[in-house]
Amino acid sequence: NEEKYLNNDMEIQVQIQSLPRAKYWVGDDLYKFQGFWIPTIAIPGIIKFQTQFQARDSDLLVTSFPKCGTTWLKSLVFMISNRSIYSISDNPLTKLSPHDVVPNLEFNVYLFKPYPDLEILPNPRIFSTHAPYPLLPSSVINSESKIVYMCRNLLDQFVSFWHFKDRLKQQGACTSISEAFEMFYSGVDGFGPSWEHVLSYWKASLENPNKVLFLKYEDMKENPTFYVKKLGDFLGFPFSEEEVKQGMIEEIANFCSFENLRNLGVNKSGKRAIARPIENNAYFRKGEVGDWANYLSPSMAERAIKLMDDKFSGSGLSF
Ligand code: A3P
Repeated sequence: NEEKYLNNDMEIQVQIQSLPRAKYWVGDDLYKFQGFWIPTIAIPGIIKFQTQFQARDSDLLVTSFPKCGTTWLKSLVFMISNRSIYSISDNPLTKLSPHDVVPNLEFNVYLFKPYPDLEILPNPRIFSTHAPYPLLPSSVINSESKIVYMCRNLLDQFVSFWHFKDRLKQQGACTSISEAFEMFYSGVDGFGPSWEHVLSYWKASLENPNKVLFLKYEDMKENPTFYVKKLGDFLGFPFSEEEVKQGMIEEIANFCSFENLRNLGVNKSGKRAIARPIENNAYFRKGEVGDWANYLSPSMAERAIKLMDDKFSGSGLSF
């Protein structure tokens, strides 16, 4: 498989040949690429994103570390920015996975189509990426396009990914949570170290709050309507007084809720044909805060909490 992803582009092969490489518990090897551990399958797409992508000022970029709530944020950004076109009851998310409505640049857009024509897409184009902030192309950084970032308590992220990896069904993936935990703990993690990923967007959001909106899964679970409104303002699609009165904010929050999205037919039984076929329901597990306590042993939890305290200390960020 690895050959399939890399062989089609000699130049990319040459670029990655000399990079440090590590085994990854999920199966795909990781390469230390521009300071981060990137899964083999994602590297060609990230390079093409960096070298080909021409941002428009109206573009919206959904960014996240995997399993931090990407699916949720994609749905919200799509619904908020397209609400003048589609009704809540009949919008593309009732028929398609959020991951098909908002494509990921490294896994969908550039992986199978080396030169996709993104110029034909109407405004606002919405894409997603797991690339850390320092890996985003200057075209994105220098444009007026907006970046929204979703992060989450990384212990919950780890547990969420631990369950998701069963759906990837990759050969060579390890089966013990303690083995996987050690890799998470060491930072040798897809798109990681996870804390470096989070901190990269956190710092960017502090430096340029009009460009990067940093969101926390836990806060959004607590008060989804507040964040629907905040997203509307940030993305340039503010809710009018009339819409507020009509309950549009609540309608979007409810439509994008875990319960509602999970129970849509397409997300119950559909399948996506990206690099590996993944069932749409794999993106909807529990949708809860604090599930890590059910899976990490007391000693793992103690180490992970201390690690997070160390990594985020002084940043102003806590979970
Ligand atoms: P759990 O495995 O903890 O349930 P991603 O979308 O980045 O792959 O992250 C997946 C996680 O987000 C899963 O967490 C999933 O259940 C949760 N999730 C998916 N849709 C959600 C929604 N609409 N609201 C809240 N959480 C959601």
